[in-house]
Amino acid sequence: MSGFEAAGGSVLGAAGEEEARDTAALLEGVLPRELRPLFDASFVRSHFLYEQFVHRLVLQVVRETGLEDALRDEGSTEDIALRAKLAAASALVPLDWILRSLAARGLLAEPAGQGRGRYRALGPLPVLDPGAVREEQLRSAPTWLASYVLAETVARDYPAFLRGEVAGEDVLFSAKRLRLWIDYFSNDNGLYAVNNRVGAIAADAWLPPSGGIILELGGGLGSGALALLERLETAGRLGEIAGYRFTEFVPAFLRRGEQALRTRYPALSALSAATLDMNRPFAEQGVARGSVALVYAVNTLHVARDLEFTLGEIFQTLAPGGRLVVSECVPSTVRAGASSRPRSGGERWRRPGSWRRASCRTSRACATRRHASLWPPSALPVQGDRSRATETPPRVRRGAR
Ligand SMILES: C[S@@+](CC[C@H](N)C(=O)[O-])C[C@H]1O[C@@H](n2cnc3c(N)ncnc32)[C@H](O)[C@@H]1O
Repeated sequence: MSGFEAAGGSVLGAAGEEEARDTAALLEGVLPRELRPLFDASFVRSHFLYEQFVHRLVLQVVRETGLEDALRDEGSTEDIALRAKLAAASALVPLDWILRSLAARGLLAEPAGQGRGRYRALGPLPVLDPGAVREEQLRSAPTWLASYVLAETVARDYPAFLRGEVAGEDVLFSAKRLRLWIDYFSNDNGLYAVNNRVGAIAADAWLPPSGGIILELGGGLGSGALALLERLETAGRLGEIAGYRFTEFVPAFLRRGEQALRTRYPALSALSAATLDMNRPFAEQGVARGSVALVYAVNTLHVARDLEFTLGEIFQTLAPGGRLVVSECVPSTVRAGASSRPRSGGERWRRPGSWRRASCRTSRACATRRHASLWPPSALPVQGDRSRATETPPRVRRGAR
């Protein structure tokens, strides 16, 4: 538990500001120049605040579902779900996440010798007001508000979901929630825009000078495409695009995404939009083999049912020398004075669906040959090896093994 939380955390004041300044200073020294403005002290502080906000919502959910009582005695996730009368089938995965998150903050004991997965409350759980964090966020960086609205709306329905009274799809994806997602998947949302911006920088760097066709997968409501087109427009490169194939699986998203792109770029004749399911062969869906200069995917490849299959389809689609640019959330805990990064990008890619376990903390773009290389290579400190900062982005060798 941080000193801030131990003290009750009701008055936020400048909490997290110093750490944010230190972390931003660290990043300033290791990030490529173009990425630095994205991960400034304001962004890092907002990240801190959002984690606080979600933590406080979690505490609310725990109180409302009677989990605090269920945690008095040690038990596994299943035991605790049973005691709190939660619906076993749907509750176990989120409950496990909740318990691990409370344990990571020092609020639960994970009894020694038992390994992970058994928990007991160390004492009464703190009562912390999420509203105080929301207010501080509004004061310091209001562009993150859409993420707050989404989280607090979902948290309101969480107790009913954990009890099995409402389906997860109804909590997240009912028609009345569409507005929340429109506001969330937007470049006006400070939390979400960063992935789009990192992806756009990478795609601009890797789009061959001769341009060619860009195929975007899982384009959703169009925020990733807008960020990329804006970037290329600023660089005077829009004319290099022979075709921008905006694709998406959900027809309603596709329509909205296409509309957003056509409204912003009415004269972009290279733009086309079509449904595409990344879990099915691309050629069957109108994307010819070897036809694409750059495949672009922001926050979407993690949904691939079989990542190996989808990557195979992508590589068949690429023209010789073509590139895949992916911008995804990966777990990372960069802090001043400490560093961490995924040990092996390739391993992550080889395990289908493994990204589902990743938490959205820091976004990074990567390009890949057969297996992934992470880009930018110097984004996070790697055992003091700074020379890789100038490493040339990898080229995709179509069909290479
Ligand atoms: C987190 S959203 C990202 C949207 C968009 N890239 C952006 O950043 O604004 C993930 C997207 O993947 C799409 N998706 C889900 N399953 C898919 C599939 N099988 N094939 C293609 N896209 C899929 C979803 O409909 C959704 O629009």
